[in-house]
Amino acid sequence: MTVAILGGTAGLGRALAIRLASSGVRVVIGSRSEEKAREVAKEVSRLTGSAHVEGRRNEDAIEGAEFVVFAVPYPGMYEVAKAVRTKLGEGSVIVSAIVPLESDLGGPARYIEPSAGSAAEALQEQLRGFPVVSAFHYTPASLLEDLSAELDVVVCGEREPAYRLIELLRGVRGIRPLYGGPLRNSRVTERLVQLLIEINREHKTKAATLRFAF
Ligand SMILES: NC(=O)c1ccc[n+]([C@@H]2O[C@H](COP(=O)([O-])OP(=O)(O)OC[C@H]3O[C@@H](n4cnc5c(N)ncnc54)[C@H](OP(=O)(O)O)[C@@H]3O)[C@@H](O)[C@H]2O)c1
Repeated sequence: MTVAILGGTAGLGRALAIRLASSGVRVVIGSRSEEKAREVAKEVSRLTGSAHVEGRRNEDAIEGAEFVVFAVPYPGMYEVAKAVRTKLGEGSVIVSAIVPLESDLGGPARYIEPSAGSAAEALQEQLRGFPVVSAFHYTPASLLEDLSAELDVVVCGEREPAYRLIELLRGVRGIRPLYGGPLRNSRVTERLVQLLIEINREHKTKAATLRFAF
């Protein structure tokens, strides 16, 4: 199973690469720069002891990947979607981790509503014909990278592609994946990040997350 992580050279994407590679998942780190992708892949490989980490340009990283994670800031989503659109393989599941924030555009850390309703739905509009699911909205990079941290990951989207991602995540140490309903529910999961931002600010942390009790 191969997961391509577009924007995998920093933040959430790099942390996800560490978490997945530590559980033996084959990871391809994508970047706008091949050199940067290779450097970060080498670092992730060294940190995790995995020989199955590669670095490539975003448009090449997706080749043969069962899952393609978008881990770029919202303004970059359109450019990256355009770069990969014609090269996506049939059957790839697209995963949006994107939370559109004004801070990505130099403003305050506040949610900005895409006209499609959510970033995940905006990405689905860009990539018609490919199943888009959303995940990792509540997953701070600092906790994802800390392999001792236990995390709930809500996955929204059509059941079949969402459960393909859930199956993969069930095999990843410390992750409890939960199905969160159709892609439209990304409107809820993305917006809730606003609360985490406030909690982080108030408690001077970067690690606020959500866990579900049932
Ligand atoms: N950080 C978190 O804890 C966290 C948690 C949940 C969700 N998210 C979401 O995940 C996404 C990434 O967040 P992040 O904090 O990881 O971001 P980041 O560190 O600012 O960026 C990640 C990577 O995206 C690429 N990138 C940056 N700007 C770009 C652009 N305009 N066009 C194309 N690629 C660009 C860069 O890779 P290259 O320069 O190598 O191309 C960069 O290393 C965001 O949408 C965020 O809302 C983040």
